Order: sequence, then structure tokens, then C-alpha cells
Amino acid sequence: MMKYQNILVKDLSENIRLITINRPKQLNALNKQTIEELHQALDAAGKDNKIRAIILMGSGEKAFVAGADIKEFMHFTPAEGQALSETGHRLLFDFIEQMHTPVIAAINGYALGGGLELALASHIRVASENARLGLPEVSLGVIPGYGGTQRLAQHVGKGRAMEMILTARQIDAQTAFTYGLVSEVVPLDKLLDTAVAYAERILRNSPRAIGLAIEAVNAGYGREGFRAENRLFGKAFGTPDFKEGTTAFVERRKPEF
Ligand code: CAA
Repeated sequence: MMKYQNILVKDLSENIRLITINRPKQLNALNKQTIEELHQALDAAGKDNKIRAIILMGSGEKAFVAGADIKEFMHFTPAEGQALSETGHRLLFDFIEQMHTPVIAAINGYALGGGLELALASHIRVASENARLGLPEVSLGVIPGYGGTQRLAQHVGKGRAMEMILTARQIDAQTAFTYGLVSEVVPLDKLLDTAVAYAERILRNSPRAIGLAIEAVNAGYGREGFRAENRLFGKAFGTPDFKEGTTAFVERRKPEF
């Protein structure tokens, strides 16, 4: 199996592969390299006929993924911002959504920004009781750029999605369950077993039919909104609010918009 720097890949059984995002000191924030590595690992798993379910989790007990890596993109131009979003969609978020091998997100803590977007792109979500979910991008002067403006609305409805995105608030795991955002909430020490139980239920079914079902479900959703998100995400990078929001984050203060 390939060697990665920012992820861990482990087979839990002959048919179930666990991929762990492993930058715990940065709360598993997604920088370019991590996205590239996740792409390679998912692509390899998707091409491996033996692997019939994939579980995604964050390392440590605090975070699934705390978002895109703010420190990496804070000095980007609008064109670089738009490219970041487009590349992310292609390598990871759209890529997962379209995989014929089901991906289960085991949300073991913070799933914020790109972290929630990663869970939203996955086919099934389960969360631990300590999980906190949200799209805080507008508090940084930017917008969700990894599919959140589209997929959150697909999952919870436009009204709740709009409210969560505009307030930038975090919701707890129980609220996420009430919203239909996660299938189940369990104690942290039961989370992986719970994800495995979903994977085992999947294993009983036809892998070919599963792939076709994923494709059919996805076909019901248009692409126009995703293109708008790419463009508007880039546009935000040209605003003074983006500079203020990201600078305030690294200076650990509240932004003044
Ligand atoms: N990017 C880069 N670094 C991050 C990060 C992120 N998204 N989230 C956390 N970190 C880093 C922190 O900077 C900190 O690093 P240092 O120790 O070097 O200072 C380390 O991880 C630990 O984080 P905190 O000290 O902040 O931990 P905390 O317990 O006080 O707070 C938190 C936890 C509430 C999750 C807080 O870290 C936080 O608000 N993180 C950012 C969440 C966020 O805004 N995510 C959206 C990112 S933008 C995005 O995702 C764009 C997109 O759609 C494409």
C-alpha cells in the first residue's frame, strides 16, 4: 500500500477500508497535499474490487476535519481561490459523491467548513456525541467552496441551510440528527463500530446495483449551483472582508467587518 504523509489507510476487513485524515495538530484541516492524498487513496480503493465500503474519519478525539486550511489559502488571489475550489471539487468532493464504492463519514468531532462539506459529499454520515457541525466560512469573509452551498441545502432544505450558512453557527450532533444531516449519533468509542455496521449491511447487497443506485440518486441534482459556488468563492477572495476575516483567525481575534 502507498505511503502517505497526511492520511492513514487501513483495511478493517477484506472488504472495508478505513481512511483517516491525520493532521491532528491542525485539527485535520484540508491542505492541498491532504486533498491530493485523499484523492489517490480513494481512487485506489474505488479501483479495488475487493473494497466494497470506505470509512472516512479524523485522527484524534477532537476533530473530523476543521475545514480547508485557512493558513494555506489566506494570501490567495481570486483566481487562485476559484482554482482551489474547482480542484477540490474535482479531486475530492465531487469525486467521492460519484464513487460507486460507498463512502461513510464517521464524524468524530468538529466537522466545520470543508470538513462538513467532506461529510456532505459522502454517501452516509454517522456522528459521535461530541461532534459539532457547521459552515463558518462567512465569519472568515469567504463562502463555502467545497460544495456546501449546494449539498447542505440538498440534505437539510434551503431554509435551514441558509440559516446555518448566514449565521455561521455550529450545531451539535443531536441537532444534526434532528435535521436529518446524520443517520445516527453514538458515543465516540462506539463510532467506528457503528460505521462498520453500516458497511457490513452494504456488503450484503449487490456492489454493481449499489454503484448504479448512487449514480441514479446523484442524477437528480443539477450542476449549475456548483459552478456558481466556484466563481463566487473566488470572488470573495478579492474583498477586504476576506483579508480581515482570515487575518483575524490567525491573530485569534474577532473580525471587524
Ligand atoms: N485551517 C488551518 N488551521 C486550523 C484550522 C483550519 N481550518 N482549524 C484549526 N486550525 C489550527 C489552529 O490554527 C491551531 O493551530 P496552532 O496551534 O498552530 O495555533 C490548531 O489547529 C488548533 O486549533 P485551535 O487552537 O483553534 O483549537 P480550539 O479548540 O481553540 O478551536 C475550532 C477549535 C473552533 C475548530 C477552531 O480551530 C476553528 O474555528 N477553526 C477554523 C474553523 C473554520 O473556520 N473552518 C472553515 C475553514 S474555511 C473553508 O473550509 C473554506 C471552504 O469551504 C473551501
